[in-house]
Order: sequence, then C-alpha cells, then structure tokens
Amino acid sequence: MKNLDKNIDGKSYANKLLKKIFPLSQEYFYKFNRKPSLAVILIGEDPASNVYVKNKIRTAEANNIKSIEIKLPTETSEKELLQKIISLNEEVEIDGILVQLPLPNHISEQNVINTINPDKDVDGFHPVNFGKLYMGVPNFVPCTPLGCLYMLKNELKHLSGKNAVIVGRSNIVGKPMASLLLSSDCTVTLTHSKTKYLKEHCKKADILIAAVGCPEMIDDTYVNENAIVIDVGINRVADPLQNKKSMLVGDINYKKVYNIVKKITPVPGGVGPMTIACLMHNTIKAAYKNKKYNFIDILEDST
Ligand code: GUN
Repeated sequence: MKNLDKNIDGKSYANKLLKKIFPLSQEYFYKFNRKPSLAVILIGEDPASNVYVKNKIRTAEANNIKSIEIKLPTETSEKELLQKIISLNEEVEIDGILVQLPLPNHISEQNVINTINPDKDVDGFHPVNFGKLYMGVPNFVPCTPLGCLYMLKNELKHLSGKNAVIVGRSNIVGKPMASLLLSSDCTVTLTHSKTKYLKEHCKKADILIAAVGCPEMIDDTYVNENAIVIDVGINRVADPLQNKKSMLVGDINYKKVYNIVKKITPVPGGVGPMTIACLMHNTIKAAYKNKKYNFIDILEDST
C-alpha cells in the first residue's frame, strides 16, 4: 500500500485557500452589488489549454466570481486580439484579464502581455508586475510560483537560509519562483538547459522545484533525503500499462524520488489545484483594487 505521508496534498491546500477566498467574494458582492469578474481568452483548440480554462472557469463560478469566456479561432490576428484586450481594459466591470498561453505562432506573447492593464493582470506576467516582484514590492504575482510558495511556507517552519534549486527559467515559473524564494531569504540557484553539473546542484537542494517540461527527467540520483520537492511539470505521455491511453506525469520521476526525499508534490493533485486557487485570489485582489478598496492580501499573512 502506498504511504501517503510524504505527499504534499495540493488539493487540500487549495481548498484551505479557497475557503478564505469565498467570504471575500461574497462580501464584495454585498458591498458593490456585483461579483468580482474574470475574463479568460482562449485562442485555438489546444486540448490541454481547453482543460485548464474549463477548470479555471468552473472554480471561479464555484467561488462567486463571474467568468467571461472568450473563445477565438486560431486564425485570429494579433491586431484583433490586442483590440479585444484593449476593450476589456476599458470595461469597468471587468476586474481581471487572463490570456491562456501558449498562443499560436503568429501572435507575439510579449505584445499580448504588454497590452493587458497591469491592474487587471491576474497572471502577474506584465513587465510592471514582473519588475515589482523582482524589486521586492509585489503587486500581482504569477499564480503557479505563488501557489508553490504557499505550500512551502506551510510545509517548512522557515525558508530562511535554505538552499533552493529551481530547474527551468521560464517567465511563468522559474524566474518569478526565484524572486519569491530570494525574498524569503533562501539561497537560490536558478538552473536551465545549459547548466553544467545539474545533478550536483540539485543534490544540494533543501527545496527542489522542477519546471522544465521534460517528463520524469529528475530521478532519485538528483535528490537528497532532506529535500522538499515541488513538481510543476504536467506532461501527457503514453500509459505503459494501458495500450493507447495516456497519463499525466510531472518533471520528477515520482516513484523513484518518493522513496528518497522528505516531501513531494504528486502530479496530478499537487501544484495544479494551487495555481487555480491563486488565480482566484488574484482576481479578488484585482476586483478590490478596481474599487480602490484596501485589500489585505490573504497570501501575505498566511504564507
Ligand atoms: N499556460 C500555462 N500556465 C499558464 C498560466 O499560469 N497562465 C496563463 N495565462 N497561461 C498559462
């Protein structure tokens, strides 16, 4: 029988956070006579993006947040998309705007991110929010790293002085994660595809974050017995046991690493639910900001 003691249960952390968010969205409704609102733009037919967007919308609806789903065909031009974003920026009753990534190749991700009003940027990807995070004065923080930090702060008594190693330097996870951990007084190593002696770096980690998008790349030879491992990867691979079926795996070889380390997030059921819960948090925050109302960041005191 599987011993679940080492698992970091992302679903249960997400539910804990959503329980705090629910009354805030209710209170918002009573104060301002409307629900906080989130516009989600999905371009094209990518099946994984479709599932992520559905989950985001379902969670929003369940938490008193109005969601506006805008589905656009793959052929949508960059100009059309930017015009849509500009009109959402101007709509006073839209609090948060999210454009699901990745985008079709003919659309510049950076142009899209730059066009979203930083005060509606619930993904925290806009250069203004990115810069504020790096300066230690965060406004909107990207949801996945924020969720990882929340779990780490709850799992560890303190983060100060810990060796944190991040594998992957994306703008969505690796870089903001590095900044958050640095602000929590960790010693941060941000590794990537050109890093020499990757295994040796990872082996020294008290906290190991994998966000590379390589199925089960990190095995038991990369970790030490005291490590807390956070697996951000979501990779769909063929299921070896069931012909023609697929399954989800992370960037960590869970079966091998589980036996060695202190704690680990599973895939699915680890980081994924926390990303969505943090999106709800950022949307409520954007809604209160929209009304120029003082919002006490619930992630700041509980993380
Ligand atoms: N695609 C993968 N992760 C994310 C995310 O956090 N936000 C957006 N907008 N797109 C994504």
